[in-house]
Amino acid sequence: MGQLARTGPDQSLPFSDRDFEALAALAHREFGLSLSQSKKPLVYSRLSRRLKARGIHSFPDYLRILDVPGESSERLELISALTTNVTSFFREDHHFEKLRSDCLSREIEKIRSGKRFRVWSAGCSSGQEPFSIAMEILGSMPDANDYDVKVLATDIDPKIVSKAKSGRYSLEELQSIPDEFRRKWTKNCNDGMGEFQVLDAVRDLVTFGELNLMSDWPFSGPFDSIFCRNVAIYFDQKTQQKLWVKLSKILAERGFLFIGHSERVSGDAVNVLTGVGVTSYQKSTLFDPKNN
Ligand SMILES: C[S@@+](CC[C@H](N)C(=O)[O-])C[C@H]1O[C@@H](n2cnc3c(N)ncnc32)[C@H](O)[C@@H]1O
Repeated sequence: MGQLARTGPDQSLPFSDRDFEALAALAHREFGLSLSQSKKPLVYSRLSRRLKARGIHSFPDYLRILDVPGESSERLELISALTTNVTSFFREDHHFEKLRSDCLSREIEKIRSGKRFRVWSAGCSSGQEPFSIAMEILGSMPDANDYDVKVLATDIDPKIVSKAKSGRYSLEELQSIPDEFRRKWTKNCNDGMGEFQVLDAVRDLVTFGELNLMSDWPFSGPFDSIFCRNVAIYFDQKTQQKLWVKLSKILAERGFLFIGHSERVSGDAVNVLTGVGVTSYQKSTLFDPKNN
């Protein structure tokens, strides 16, 4: 038996290298997650709590449960335990500025003449990212709801998608929304819970859904912009490169891809995605963005 990890709240569960490798292989196969050996203590700490909650007495038993067809909900608990949902409104606000100034502004008249406009928040977590996109769109185009404008927001984690759909946040979570937008598009629920609600004008622009980015995508775009930020960070390089190619195919010509601050597009996608700012790329198969 391999080395046992003894970190974490429950010291009584042996966790062999073999257990870790089996979990890492499953997480890679199902979700594209890359778990190096250095993550073993973290995985132990997160999952031992889960085993305890379900009354499971060993990691081999847990692996057997994960293998049972129909235990897909436990696999989702696994990814929930292994990834983080950290997010905030207007995180890396330069992406929202670029959406407004370089992507939306050139399209507004065309949208009012019937053109569709689509933005995808891929890995949307609890909704702050797609709602920030929707607020930015409404800031430039207050009548956006009267036209074919939609923000698609997806995440693998059903619990976080359901929280996102509620559009409810604490006052603290609202602090990173620009004052004007916060006053205009959020209201105090006055329900004794200290919660605030994102208003319907913003929520109506956003459609939420569950989606594993590693599975087939049930839509074909094209998207005018895609926000896929702080998600690929969990994937190994080969998986990331496949994702960049897939995202570039579903982007409209001249569409924008925004990624996380510690992520970089690499591999075949660099042939069609040109860097046009910090962690911002533009699709260019027919034109040179430098002369755009
Ligand atoms: C750190 S959050 C990023 C949220 C937001 N994009 C941002 O940058 O603020 C990462 C999100 O990616 C989701 N995620 C991880 N692996 C995924 C996968 N294979 N498919 C879809 N979503 C995934 C997680 O559930 C989590 O909500």
